[in-house]
Amino acid sequence: MNTLECIRKRRSVRKFQDKKVDRAVIEDIVADAAFAPSWKNTQCARYHVVEDRAVLEKIAAEYTLGFAYNTGTIAHAPQVVVLTALRGRSGMEKDGSASTAKGESWLMFDAGIAAQTFCLAAAERGIGSVIMGIFDAEKVAELLHIPENETVVCLIPIGYPDETPIAPRRKAVRELLSFCE
Ligand SMILES: Cc1cc2nc3c(=O)[nH]c(=O)nc-3n(C[C@H](O)[C@H](O)[C@H](O)COP(=O)(O)O)c2cc1C
Repeated sequence: MNTLECIRKRRSVRKFQDKKVDRAVIEDIVADAAFAPSWKNTQCARYHVVEDRAVLEKIAAEYTLGFAYNTGTIAHAPQVVVLTALRGRSGMEKDGSASTAKGESWLMFDAGIAAQTFCLAAAERGIGSVIMGIFDAEKVAELLHIPENETVVCLIPIGYPDETPIAPRRKAVRELLSFCE
């Protein structure tokens, strides 16, 4: 796929075949995701892969805040990537002060770019993914012993697709774009 095809054809996939993605393939995807831009090239995104079924079932059953879609998706995903970001870097100066009025919210911005870059690199390899925001991040961090200096941002279930989702409708360019004069 070329870049535009990949951007347009990537879909959120929520049903996966019962087959794990090889660790070497996940390493290649992360090597690509490492090329995502980040605040002063701080590269604060980290990728923790969960493969243990009991752990995935616990997250699905107990930490999805009652959102049934996510319960089902995580329970049946071969692997889930927990995307975290190192605190105190994006948006921040070395002395701990904020560089701009947006403070450390740039952390979420960096993590978002990293997540999309990861998902596009996965799609290029025929691997489906879905970015998930509805879950209890603090409980997941505790369960997986995520280091104290990392914020859990999103979950990304991954696997070989067992569905071909239709693209949800997109807004027209005229709604999205204006030229400032
Ligand atoms: C920040 C963010 C949070 C999301 N959270 C969830 C989620 O918790 N569960 C889910 O099934 N999809 C989630 N999605 C996926 C969106 O629903 C999906 O991207 C959107 O419907 C467009 O579909 P597409 O990705 O196939 O283009 C999330 C996407 C983003 C960017």
